[in-house]
Amino acid sequence: MSTRPLAVVILAAGKGTRMKSDKPKVMHEVAGKPMVNWVIDAAAKLNPDKIITVIGPQMPDLEQAVAPYDSVVQNDRNGTGGAVKCALSKLKGFDGDVLVLLGDCPLLSTKTLKALVKAKNKDMLTRLSVLGMEIANPTGYGRLILSADGSVIDIREEKDANAKEKLINIVNAGAFCIEGGKLEYWIKRIKNNNAQGELYLTDLPKIAASNGAVCALTLCSNPDEAMGCNTRNDLAHLEKTMQRQLRAKLMQSGVTLHDPDTVYVHYDTKVGIDTIVEPNVYFGPGVKIEKNVYIKANSYFEGCVVKQGATIGPFARLRPDTKVEKDARIGNFVEIKKSTIGARSKIGHLAYVGDCKMGEDVNFSAGAITVNYDGFQKHQTVIGKGVMVGSNVNLVAPVSIDNGAFIAAGSTITENVPADALSIARDAAEIRQGWAARYRKMKEAAKRKKMQKKKAS
Ligand code: UD1
Ligand code: CA
Repeated sequence: MSTRPLAVVILAAGKGTRMKSDKPKVMHEVAGKPMVNWVIDAAAKLNPDKIITVIGPQMPDLEQAVAPYDSVVQNDRNGTGGAVKCALSKLKGFDGDVLVLLGDCPLLSTKTLKALVKAKNKDMLTRLSVLGMEIANPTGYGRLILSADGSVIDIREEKDANAKEKLINIVNAGAFCIEGGKLEYWIKRIKNNNAQGELYLTDLPKIAASNGAVCALTLCSNPDEAMGCNTRNDLAHLEKTMQRQLRAKLMQSGVTLHDPDTVYVHYDTKVGIDTIVEPNVYFGPGVKIEKNVYIKANSYFEGCVVKQGATIGPFARLRPDTKVEKDARIGNFVEIKKSTIGARSKIGHLAYVGDCKMGEDVNFSAGAITVNYDGFQKHQTVIGKGVMVGSNVNLVAPVSIDNGAFIAAGSTITENVPADALSIARDAAEIRQGWAARYRKMKEAAKRKKMQKKKAS
């Protein structure tokens, strides 16, 4: 690793026209994180002195997404060379290495970036390096023109390439490492006399060569890494690749996924060892599952913590600010929001629990719900230890049920229940002997009468 100071410039000013979107291209998310933040996070691990993102005008969301790192606005989007030119104002007097990355290549690893910086510093003549990749279909990429010794002497963009150059299948992956002290001098020599009338950053190897400097090539060991994004189709492809990587990481860390391809993971999903995940499970943002949890098929998680030994699903939905304590059991068609479920408590089926603090060893039966919303505000339900909530109970919040209380099935509870009490809040049953038989007789007689009338007419 180079000991020279390092600055990172991320190019993200492009409109991303082909995405057909109201938001900047690099703000589109992969595994729940904007593409530009994947690039920033990979670069930040190199401990650079600064990270500068070149953004387009009127992109406040992008400016915020890259903060606290610096950004600079490129008003005239005249190409990747023009974008780096804009960043020069933030690099005055900087004499280290400048790593230039594309904001739409979120899969680049820190390891590859390190190799690129190392290649640039391999000897005194080498003043820049380019990340290349060998691919079967090079269409759309800049082709690398190599010298006999394997250094890069020029890069030809698709639209400027002749038929022979188009056959080259070693292409520019989009990352450069450049000698800071030379950058300004070289960038200012880029001209726009090309098919697109743009300032191409890819002219640098040729310009540097005319200065006697050598441009080294670093090849990506895995071409997936340098995959870029120009269309929604590319975005889907990136997502698929990222998902495969994240799932592989989970499995390497000791998690069992019965059918990995059907599990969707977020960038920040944490799962402990020996947890088992059945097929079709979705982990949204901010999910932490501890060890030894059993997650049954078709469950959906967001912003929640599940402690060890718990069982979730099938078909359970845990919404933000939910905490499920040790060995609790959440069954099918249960939705939980902003609630804590105590250790060993059971919510086996068909229940809604929102804004609730539930103690240990509670049984919350089928069809029971917390009525947490009055049309204006949300209210709390507090349930003590060892409470038994019967089936089809409505707990109208704010309300509290103290330790050990029983709530009779079908009750609508609007008043607090003291410890160890029984609360029944439903009409008393009334038995009318023989009523059903009399009722049936009456109805059948009416039916017969109607049919006779019909025949007569
Ligand atoms: C670019 C390279 C090409 C390489 C490919 C790799 C150039 C001229 N071409 O092509 O050799 O194979 O990436 O994916 O560099 N951007 C700005 N300001 C601009 C124009 C672009 O900031 O004025 C940013 C975009 O936001 C984007 C990145 O630069 O993040 C790349 O631009 P894009 O138009 O996608 O370049 P490609 O045509 O893909
Ligand atoms: Ca691109």
